[in-house]
Amino acid sequence: MKPIQVGLLGIGVVGSGTFNVLARNQEEIKRRAGRGIEITMVADLDTARARAAVGEGVQVVSDARAVIANPDIDIVIELIGGYGIAKTLVLEAIAAGKHVVTANKALLAVHGTEIFAAASAKGVMVAFEAAVAGGIPIIKALREGLTANRIQWIAGIINGTTNFILSEMRDKGLDFAVVLKEAQRLGYAEADPTFDIEGVDAAHKATLMSAIAFGVPVQFDKAYVEGITKLGAADIKYAEQLGYRIKLLGITKRRAGDAAKGTAEGIELRVHPCLIPAKRLIANVEGAMNAVVVQGDAVGTTLYYGKGAGSEPTASAVIADLVDITRLQTADPLHRVPHLAFQPNAMSSLTVLPMSEVITSYYLRLRVADETGVLAKVTGILATAGISIDAVLQREADEISGEVAIGQTQVPQTDVIILTHDCVEASMNAAMAQMQALPSVLEPITRIRKEELA
Ligand code: HSE
Repeated sequence: MKPIQVGLLGIGVVGSGTFNVLARNQEEIKRRAGRGIEITMVADLDTARARAAVGEGVQVVSDARAVIANPDIDIVIELIGGYGIAKTLVLEAIAAGKHVVTANKALLAVHGTEIFAAASAKGVMVAFEAAVAGGIPIIKALREGLTANRIQWIAGIINGTTNFILSEMRDKGLDFAVVLKEAQRLGYAEADPTFDIEGVDAAHKATLMSAIAFGVPVQFDKAYVEGITKLGAADIKYAEQLGYRIKLLGITKRRAGDAAKGTAEGIELRVHPCLIPAKRLIANVEGAMNAVVVQGDAVGTTLYYGKGAGSEPTASAVIADLVDITRLQTADPLHRVPHLAFQPNAMSSLTVLPMSEVITSYYLRLRVADETGVLAKVTGILATAGISIDAVLQREADEISGEVAIGQTQVPQTDVIILTHDCVEASMNAAMAQMQALPSVLEPITRIRKEELA
């Protein structure tokens, strides 16, 4: 049978990796797919770069629409990124009856509903394994391998840049800004690292996993997003002393309502720094590696680990999608694996809960004047708010430099660290506002959420 013909839009790091792995492993891939898979046309504004990447024998053009218009092309790979021209081209490729493979998490997390609907109407596939956790086949695992399960929660280290920075902060005891500069110098962080360090990239990926896990539409606008820019070396050290590591986690959970506690049913979807017990496997994922933990009711806890970025690891996922499409393209569209795992007419309307309704536990660090009764006032506020304390750690006053004037007297400062049990975020917000108003609390309170992942 004639090889399936693929057109590639954008040949940077991942595109050239895809080309190279397809060429290198073509015989093995053909034996698996039942048919050859060939990239026959590449579009890139930098045609010289494209030509250098693919050599002779492949058509290179600067106009992506020439690829979409080519009737011989069966599958279009979109590796341009972003939601500008990439969105237009993906929709045009679908309208032209092409199957689409994309690594574009931003595009699908924001415009996925429109794109998947267009693809279903046209009877083509949009495959996106490379969009979440690079080379880790997490979409396949969630959508197919775990299809028997009622998924309960997912927690993932799904951004390598921030995991590299947090690992370095812990190893070297350095603050965020110092490590970020070093990460940029070494090429682990981009010149504009905003999407990574502010948690946006992780939230795009968490949004896609949430939709697939729970059969809800992609709803990036409902995700709570907090990055790592405000984390200090001191908090990483204190967390360590309490038996925890701090990781940037993408979390999504299905939550039953509880009328007695006044909590609603819904889905939590959030990205933020998180304390996790140091003994958990995922707490020991270091450097730029990714890992995702999935809890299903039948299977229990499963863990997926690997490279979340890079040329050939991401190409591995792109090519897996090419093989899937090659195998399934002649199947009746209704009998293919649905884009978001659940049949389009069986999607759930379960709402994504606002952050104020999320239930989790907390690490709090308060810089206080070390005087009689401070701890009692702080713990009294938590008790009145119905928030139960799990552990308290008070640093020796001489570990914190400098004194503070309270009235006529100079008193030393200290850090009080409190771990709480689970409570509703709104209760914690209210308690924090009261604690912050105490004259003995000298600086803005640091709050980091905590998950036991048990
Ligand atoms: N910038 C991402 C990361 C990889 O650092 O993990 C692509 O999503």
